[in-house]
Amino acid sequence: MSKKVLITGGTGYIASHTCVALIEQGVTPILVDDLSNSSKLVLSRIQELTGVLPVFYQGSILDKVLLAKIFAEHPEIEAVMHFAGLKAVGESVEKPLAYYQCNVAGTLNLVEAMQAAGVKQLIFSSSATVYGDPASVPIEESFPTSATNPYGWSKWMVERCLMDFQAAQPDWSITLLRYFNPVGNHPSGRLGEDPQGIPNNLVPYIAQVAIGRREQLSVFGSDYNTPDGTGVRDYIHVVDLAQGHLAALTYASPKAGCHIYNLGTGQGYSVLEMIQAFEKASGRAVPYVLAPRRPGDIAECWATPEKAKRELHWQATRTLDEMARDTWTWQENNPMGYEPQ
Ligand code: UD1
Repeated sequence: MSKKVLITGGTGYIASHTCVALIEQGVTPILVDDLSNSSKLVLSRIQELTGVLPVFYQGSILDKVLLAKIFAEHPEIEAVMHFAGLKAVGESVEKPLAYYQCNVAGTLNLVEAMQAAGVKQLIFSSSATVYGDPASVPIEESFPTSATNPYGWSKWMVERCLMDFQAAQPDWSITLLRYFNPVGNHPSGRLGEDPQGIPNNLVPYIAQVAIGRREQLSVFGSDYNTPDGTGVRDYIHVVDLAQGHLAALTYASPKAGCHIYNLGTGQGYSVLEMIQAFEKASGRAVPYVLAPRRPGDIAECWATPEKAKRELHWQATRTLDEMARDTWTWQENNPMGYEPQ
C-alpha cells in the first residue's frame, strides 16, 4: 500500500503543487484546509493532472476535534507536511494575534494530535524570513535567526517550539524547510498562485500588471547596494520546491532528529531582472515606477542550497525564464484566478 501523508493547507499554492509531485511518486496525500486563502477547485485540478481526487477535509488546524478525527480515520498516515499558515507580512503587523494563533497555536495543536496518534514525522514550511536581515549572502542554515515582523516571529517561534520538542522526543523526525521566494506555477497552467486582493509579492503583482488587471508596478527601492539598486532575491520555481518536499520525505523524514534545509536556487535576481524576464515570457510590457523602499525590506537574500543538495540529493533546476513562462501560462489561462467573480 502506498505511503499516506497528511498535508495541512493542502489546497494552497505550494501544497497543491507538492500534492501533484507526491501523487506522481505513488504517495497518497490526505488534505486539510480551511479554504481561507485557497479554492476547493484545486482538488479537481489535482485530479485532472494526476487522475487522483485527493481525500479532503475542510477545516482549520485550530480545530483539535477535526485533527483527531483525521488521524483516527487514516491510521496509516506516516508523516505530516505542515503548510497551513497565514503569510502576509503587512497583515501580520495589523493582526499579530491572528498570526500567533494560527501559525504557533495551530502548529502546537497539530503536534499534539500527531503525538496522540503516534505519528512522528513532520515536515514544516518555514521561511528564509527567519534569517531577518542577514549579515552576508549567501545564507547558510547555521546563520543566526531573527525576525522583523509578527509573521516572521511566528515562523521563528514555531521553529523554536519544534526544535525544543524534538530534543525532548528524540525518536521524532522534524524537518524545517526554509523556503526562499517561491514563484511560477505548474507548467500546464492548471495550478497556480491565486492571491486574494492586491498581491503583496512581486511576481503575482507583475503578472497582474501584464494581464491588465493593474496599471503599473511600484518598484520598492532603487537605491539599495545591489548591482542595479533594486532588491535581490532567490526566486525558486514552485515545482522545484515541491520536489524538495519529496526529497525531504525520502531522505530526512525516515531519520530521527531535527533537520534544517534552505530550499533556494543559490542565485539572486533583482526586481528589474524579474520584470525583464516577464516581459520576454509574456510579450507584454510591464509598466513600472521607481518608488520608495518598502519598510522592513532587505537589500539582498539568497541561499546556499549545498546542504539540501548533499543530504537530500535535491537541487532546483528550473530557470528564471521557466519561472516567468509558467507564471504567464497560469495568468493567461486563469486571468481572475480559480474562481472568476
Ligand atoms: C516576502 C516577505 C517574506 C515572506 C515572503 C514569502 C516581506 C518584507 N517579506 O518576501 O517574509 O517569507 O514574502 O511570501 O514582505 N517588490 C516590489 N514591488 C512590489 C512587491 C515587491 O518592488 O509590488 C520587491 C520587494 O521590495 C523585494 C522583491 O520585490 O525586493 C520581492 O518581494 P516579495 O515578493 O514581496 O518577497 P520578499 O519581500 O522577499
